[in-house]
Amino acid sequence: MVKKKIAVFISGNGSNLKSLVKYSKKKKCSFKIELVISNNPDAIGLIYAKKIKLRNFFVEFRNKQIFENNSLKLLKRFNIEIICLAGFMKILSGNFIKKFSNPILNIHPSLLPKYKGLNTHLKAIKNNEKFSGATIHKVNKKLDSGKIILQKKVKILKRDNVRSLQKKILKIEHEIYPKALVKFISSL
Ligand code: GRF
Repeated sequence: MVKKKIAVFISGNGSNLKSLVKYSKKKKCSFKIELVISNNPDAIGLIYAKKIKLRNFFVEFRNKQIFENNSLKLLKRFNIEIICLAGFMKILSGNFIKKFSNPILNIHPSLLPKYKGLNTHLKAIKNNEKFSGATIHKVNKKLDSGKIILQKKVKILKRDNVRSLQKKILKIEHEIYPKALVKFISSL
């Protein structure tokens, strides 16, 4: 089978990048991570990419336009078919989404449509939610509002705080991102 060429956008630790790479090593995996782009030169995820000799670039985000144009050149050069945003902390413009024209997926640490944006764990705890979780969704012009591909929930216990909930949800993210990508590819 021809594997889909994936670019992963990161800004930090890259733990979701790592889980996507690990899953891509499975024999019948329908995708291959071809490229990592980070807006942060000190992202730990870049160190990981270098260590495993995975093509990677720091693209400066001083100016959104320049970041997007430089990223589009790389995406074109390496024939990228799907972008996976994974801990990527910048918002891409509608123009970029249009110009790339292929699908873009994102992982968000809440049960969308609840708690779009930042500080999702604090909001869920403050609102005495019984559950939270992670969502993989398609990226469109509206923040955290694209079609949901896969979600998984976790119970919020009385003793949970932001740190413990973030840890629990990160584990879920690592589990569902590769599965969501495979599910999405099979729907193309
Ligand atoms: C995670 O908390 C994730 O929910 C959010 O970005 C954070 C860092 O992800 N999307 P990673 O470790 O860089 O993949």
